[in-house]
Amino acid sequence: MQLLPGFRDFYPEECARRNYILSVWRDVAGRYGFVEYDGPVLESIELYRKKSGGELVGQLFDFVDKGERHVAMRPEMTPTLARMVAARERDYKKPLKWFCAPSFFRYEKQQRGRLREFLQLNCDILGEASAGADAELLALAIDILRGFGLGPADFVLRLSDRDAWAEFAKARGVGEDRLLDFLSVVDKLERASEAESEKRLSDFGMTLQQVRAFISNPTAEATKLNSILEDLKARGLGEYVEVDLTIVRGLAYYTGLVFEVFDRGGKERALAGGGRYDRLLEVMSDGKVKMPALGFGMGDVVLANLIDDVEVANQRRNAWLGANRAAEIFVVLAKEELRSEALRLVQRLREKGSRVDFALAPAKVGKQFQAAEQSGAQFAVVVGDEWPQLKWKELATRQERLLDVDEVISLVPMK
Ligand code: HAM
Repeated sequence: MQLLPGFRDFYPEECARRNYILSVWRDVAGRYGFVEYDGPVLESIELYRKKSGGELVGQLFDFVDKGERHVAMRPEMTPTLARMVAARERDYKKPLKWFCAPSFFRYEKQQRGRLREFLQLNCDILGEASAGADAELLALAIDILRGFGLGPADFVLRLSDRDAWAEFAKARGVGEDRLLDFLSVVDKLERASEAESEKRLSDFGMTLQQVRAFISNPTAEATKLNSILEDLKARGLGEYVEVDLTIVRGLAYYTGLVFEVFDRGGKERALAGGGRYDRLLEVMSDGKVKMPALGFGMGDVVLANLIDDVEVANQRRNAWLGANRAAEIFVVLAKEELRSEALRLVQRLREKGSRVDFALAPAKVGKQFQAAEQSGAQFAVVVGDEWPQLKWKELATRQERLLDVDEVISLVPMK
């Protein structure tokens, strides 16, 4: 039986690496006052057909369940979040600052940076329309990546504004009903050939030159992004952002600010993406709840690739992994008759909060010391000839001393 393409097994080493990413995500989101939530893995397929739109609908893992419901495994969080908040909006003070970091599923072609199951951190601010919220969210995205040890030479946030494109399109006679189609042409400008883009733009009565001129000379719309840029500069984060109108994002619900995060080397797919979706809650609640909102999603796959490539980030992760050993103390049982005493010691140490391991079946002392090394423990406590005293041994230096049981217990928790 083989692993399905695009899915991953998480052996303990990979799980530890995943936990590292999760711990930094949670830590920095917490520093910004975000609280964690979650939703279901399965939703009605209609939620994504109507709200996500674009490419994503073709990438759904969907099936008909035993109750004849057409369902899909979540490819993203935003429609679920909008549904949840619209349903209980009155129960929470605004603005809501929520995050989650579960698994998502997309039937994409497996490639560097893209899998079929991946983790995605979602951070969203709901109920705040001001540019201050935009800047706060962008600062969070930047600080999360800085939290991994990545710097301005490693990544950049590219900011854009869908409203600016909507105005551009409207001024050229493109109706609202065709705006998303037009944006999808802009979205693919960098990947499609010139001839292809030229042809697709001609359907909207435009030329590639006009579109390029707008991208290279953002006028009125840039002023809207200016206050966000000023805010980020005041925080000392100005060097992490650039205005780039080629970013429009593939999802249907975005309204104003949109952005993506890329590695500076240009080797990887996008690290994160997001923006404002000021009308999604209204649409979701049939007009009952009007609430501005914005957020971003950051996947673990590209992020892990970048950490591997950047020395500082790599070292920081390895230091974290090294500090998170399976055990701190290994209890070595040198005299089988003392098993009960040893078990009582193990129990007391664990109750005090130490990570403790020992041999479950009788084994030679040498073997037990080997197991102690493998467990990553810093200390071994030998229960043997010295009883009722114990031999306390620091494994790295091989220094040892004799201690009473209470003295050993008093060493825990260890600094
Ligand atoms: P998205 O651009 O579709 O946005 O995804 C955001 C990030 O998730 C990507 O930049 C990438 O890091 C990661 N990602 C997406 N697909 C895959 C994949 N197949 N394999 C690995 N990583 C992937 C959204 O999903 C929006 N819902 C984000 C958002 C939240 N907007 C507002 N709030």
